[in-house]
Amino acid sequence: MEQTLIILKPDAVRNKHVGNIIARIEKEGFNIVALKKITLKDKDAKKFYAVHKERPFYKDLCKFMTTGPVVVAVLEAPGAVEKWRKLIGATDPAQAEANTIRKLYAESKEANAVHGSDSEKNAKGEIKFFFKAAELKGKL
Ligand code: RTP
Ligand code: MG
Repeated sequence: MEQTLIILKPDAVRNKHVGNIIARIEKEGFNIVALKKITLKDKDAKKFYAVHKERPFYKDLCKFMTTGPVVVAVLEAPGAVEKWRKLIGATDPAQAEANTIRKLYAESKEANAVHGSDSEKNAKGEIKFFFKAAELKGKL
């Protein structure tokens, strides 16, 4: 079964959208494999988003991701990576389709409520970044 790594970003947590987003995740048929609320340090955000380090938005994005707690989770479903990206919609909520998570809950292109891995390969790396193998089996 395919897995993907998702983040409910600081804006979604601050705006109390966690419950609604999790309800939607279950309604759409994903299985929640692991889930936790954490606060990223600057070095964590920089490492997680290192693929974007040459992009003009990198510095701002890393700063934003440390402005408050986030919820990270591993979701499982057939075709989980694409299924989640379709459900969240375009990066910029102004461009996102109706009823997508970003259309419903995002504040802006940067504070866009949620992250999702963009490939199966990156999903594996991102899951390892946040979760120990034992946690993925429901252990501490
Ligand atoms: P994500 O990685 O968070 O799932 O989002 P994505 O694939 O749709 O977007 P990506 O191009 O990977 O960009 C990562 C995150 O950087 C912020 N961003 N800001 N101000 C801007 O022009 C801009 N562009 C991107 C967003 O938070 C985006 O999700
Ligand atoms: Mg991305």
